[in-house]
Amino acid sequence: MNKSERYANIIPMAELNTKEKRLLPFPVFNQLRQTTPVRYDESRGCWDVFRYEDIHRILKDPVTFSSKRGLAVKDRETILTMDPPRHTQLRGLVNKAFTPKVISDLASRISSITDELLDDVQIKETMDIVSDLAVPLPVIMIAELLGVPPEDRNLFKEWSDILVKGPDQNTDEAFKQIIAEKEQATDELSDYFARIAEQRRVEPKEDLISLLLQAEVEGEKLSDKEILGFSILLLAAGNETTTNLITNAVRRLTEDITLQQQLRDSPELIPGFLEEVLRFYPPIQAIGRVATQDVEIGDFLITKGQQVVSWVASANRDEAKFADPDTFIVDRKPNAHLSFGFGIHFCLGAPLARLEGQIVMETLLKRFRDIQFVTGSEMTYIQSPFVYGVKQYKVSFAR
Ligand code: HEM
Repeated sequence: MNKSERYANIIPMAELNTKEKRLLPFPVFNQLRQTTPVRYDESRGCWDVFRYEDIHRILKDPVTFSSKRGLAVKDRETILTMDPPRHTQLRGLVNKAFTPKVISDLASRISSITDELLDDVQIKETMDIVSDLAVPLPVIMIAELLGVPPEDRNLFKEWSDILVKGPDQNTDEAFKQIIAEKEQATDELSDYFARIAEQRRVEPKEDLISLLLQAEVEGEKLSDKEILGFSILLLAAGNETTTNLITNAVRRLTEDITLQQQLRDSPELIPGFLEEVLRFYPPIQAIGRVATQDVEIGDFLITKGQQVVSWVASANRDEAKFADPDTFIVDRKPNAHLSFGFGIHFCLGAPLARLEGQIVMETLLKRFRDIQFVTGSEMTYIQSPFVYGVKQYKVSFAR
């Protein structure tokens, strides 16, 4: 696979190339599901799949649809881009760090960090949900999980932003630049983690890096590269996604003031509300795979080695799966959205993201009344068509 083939699926889909469409891509997906539910996009050199049933089938068949693809920086592999059996071994290992017990023990930390961040804005009459709350909280939580000292958190944020960044333009130059930036950030992070790992080898602590250093798969310790790869994956996979869940949830609260009051009066509705936010505004819109053999989807033959992009943002609005899919239903049941993926790569951080979302919503609704979008303030969308969210979201509130 040459370089441009490897990166093909991160080039924006032509139909989503305007600001309006990036913020409101769902009518585009609705149309594509009807007209071309499976199609080959010549300009990007990959397949796009839009229906729930087809996407579900792709995600639950890792033998035919491999995860070994995409933006693996410097060919460092992580569980996200591995297939079984290595994926099964490593995932089993890191799963231990994400058990329900470990995650629920984090609740009080999430609560106090959320409160601290909101104390900082309490004196103001407006806040930017993105920079004041939704960005710092997940970074702090992942940094704490890994065992990064508080004074290094800002460095972390910078690196993690670069790791998830897509190209600004669909040109070779833009690709080269982004690859160079990612490689530099990875080198800096490698040095940084190597130093932390050195300290934890001498003096282990209760953090994830210490756990990974002690862990063994079939009698073998993980290599430094594997530990580094996993730490980088958490930064890349866990930060911007959770930021967007929080921002998209607050966006929804401001779009429907009656719903906002309903949640304030009945906080037990919050978990269902968050699931519906995930379905309605999925932080990750598409998931990539590569066909390992010739395979038919619909009436089309996908040949071995071709890239397949599954648009979960479209699957989540598929009328064949969800009743009244374009209506936001706070207590929708069942709600089998695909926003955390499906099958063996189902999001490892889902319990953490859900818990952070839950605590943030409860705290915000308890502390602030009448949360409203500040009309006229800027709301730029995130460049990558694979990520759904906004870069600023200014709200006013009453205390
Ligand atoms: C995998 C979404 C938060 C860590 C995934 C996948 C999706 C996803 C769609 C599957 C990718 C695939 O099948 O190729 C999200 C969303 C989040 C979120 C929407 C927030 C709302 C987090 C957090 C962490 C995390 C907080 C970690 C702290 C991971 C890891 C994987 C993953 C390690 C790879 C699992 C594997 O390959 O077995 N996530 N994620 N994610 N996520 Fe998340």
